[in-house]
Amino acid sequence: MYIEKLMKKGADFLGSKYPVMCGAMTWVSDAKLVSAVGDAGGFGLLAGGNAPVEIFRDEIIKTTEMSTNPFGVNLITVAPNYKDQLAMVCEMKPEVVVFAGSFPRAPEIKKVKDIGSKVICFAPTEALALKLIAQGADALILEGSEAGGHIGPVSLTVLLQQLLFKIDTIPIFVAGGIATGKMMAHMLTMGAAGVQMGTRFVMSEECTAHYNFKEQFIRARARDATATPQFDSRLPVIPVRALKNDGTAVFGKLQLDLIRKLESGEINRNQAQHEVERFWMGALKNAVIDGDVTNGSLMAGQSVGLMDEIMPLKDIFNELLEDGEKALESIKKMICD
Ligand SMILES: Cc1cc2nc3c(=O)[nH]c(=O)nc-3n(C[C@H](O)[C@H](O)[C@H](O)COP(=O)(O)O)c2cc1C
Repeated sequence: MYIEKLMKKGADFLGSKYPVMCGAMTWVSDAKLVSAVGDAGGFGLLAGGNAPVEIFRDEIIKTTEMSTNPFGVNLITVAPNYKDQLAMVCEMKPEVVVFAGSFPRAPEIKKVKDIGSKVICFAPTEALALKLIAQGADALILEGSEAGGHIGPVSLTVLLQQLLFKIDTIPIFVAGGIATGKMMAHMLTMGAAGVQMGTRFVMSEECTAHYNFKEQFIRARARDATATPQFDSRLPVIPVRALKNDGTAVFGKLQLDLIRKLESGEINRNQAQHEVERFWMGALKNAVIDGDVTNGSLMAGQSVGLMDEIMPLKDIFNELLEDGEKALESIKKMICD
């Protein structure tokens, strides 16, 4: 199969059958989803979120008990529990550590590499990509602003040209808006080592997110997954892509309230940003765990408009591979016939 040929580099790097990562999703990516993704041939990432260390450690142990396949952990560098999580993760020695949120410091990358784990970082610009490679990142994820959850400012189409087409020293994985085998195949032909998807895997049977949450995904169109605005440059907030609901308005009110408190000197910028992140963690839990789709956060990528069915992971992977192979065959036909 052509697709397997194009997947080899990424699969060898991750140690999985296919270089298809299920991106970490706070409250969503638990031991059940991560181990099931591994069993289906992909590579799952456990979400650290802001989980207390003991709970996160138990989830790592549970994942290793549920599957012998390799998996990774995702650490959010701006989470209050990040430092403790990093220390614990270094004891557990997972195959891969993905740093998310902002950027890891060089000693943090070194610490992870010293215990033999691979380091993957998100890279939003060429300068940062080169810096992270110099600091020891083993692979990068380019995530376009089409993605669900916290997003960067640049679309995947542009990131591909700025970074994927220029960097050939380490594997580059791509994410944001990818949900079909055809798109995956085209990314591989462009040089991607593999893909990372989030929204597509929420729509798997093995994903334990509340049915109400998945139901909103079934109903949503691509344009319903919108990015939150930033009201005031004194309070920089990372945009979050989610389906619009009452919770979106609550976030708007929270920003205004925090800006007022900043103005009056009641809180500083760091405290305000912590409040924002605390809000997202809680709002996402409300929707994913409790099923409150009115007030909770419905983080989703624009690819939500490409799917309307909850499927077993096995079928998702079969479809990705079959459609990917068909795409490569038609590319060959276009060029050779
Ligand atoms: C509900 C949800 C929660 C997410 N939480 C995280 C997270 O905790 N850490 C992270 O690095 N990315 C997070 N993401 C991003 C995903 O890991 C993935 O990169 C993204 O969904 C890819 O884009 P796609 O949704 O278009 O497939 C989240 C995405 C969603 C939809």
